[in-house]
Amino acid sequence: MSVRQRIVLASNNPGKIREINALLSDTDIEVVSQAEFDVPGVEETGFSFVENALIKARHAAGYCPYPVIADDSGIALDALDGRPGIYSARYAGAGASDEQNLYKLIDEIRDLPEHRRRARFVCLMVYLQYETDPVPLIAEGVWHGVALTEPRGDNGFGYDPMFYVPEHDRTSAELDPATKNRLSHRGQALRKLIGMLKVKVNKQVLR
Ligand code: IMP
Repeated sequence: MSVRQRIVLASNNPGKIREINALLSDTDIEVVSQAEFDVPGVEETGFSFVENALIKARHAAGYCPYPVIADDSGIALDALDGRPGIYSARYAGAGASDEQNLYKLIDEIRDLPEHRRRARFVCLMVYLQYETDPVPLIAEGVWHGVALTEPRGDNGFGYDPMFYVPEHDRTSAELDPATKNRLSHRGQALRKLIGMLKVKVNKQVLR
């Protein structure tokens, strides 16, 4: 009987854990929540997605006896010098709701012509084998779209209702979840990271 290798996800979100395990179903890797190890919250003090993902992963690795995966994501507009960026979850202030963040962004872009409302969702996903791992695996996913000033659709969360995907003539809140996962920044980053992980695990098994 093969023993499944456990990896901790530095998140308490059961949806993310399910999604990642579905993508790992043909491997011996199983992802579990950091909630199993009572990992306290950590301040995201970085200035980029990758810094914050590494902060979360390193912090969790200090509490867990297994390797750790963490991600950080958000929406960025070049017309706003990359904002909301790493502040996406707290754009309208600490504790702001998804709706408050979305309308703050809409207010900022309302007068911009469409070509200046190009936006991208970005996700950085990292893997640390242990807390002091000097060679993290780092995978990036980017999803390009256009920021709308009128939100549309009920699926998803966050900025999905204002993120227009031209190839599908829908916002990401109008896409079904499977289509969103196939296209999204998070799906892209996760598939890349899993590819890297399979190579790493195979190398370790062969060593
Ligand atoms: P976190 O990486 O889970 O901390 O998410 C950061 C924030 O970015 C979220 O709270 C959302 O506001 C935004 N965000 C990240 N990914 C998505 C997405 O797929 N759809 C809509 N908003 C997103």
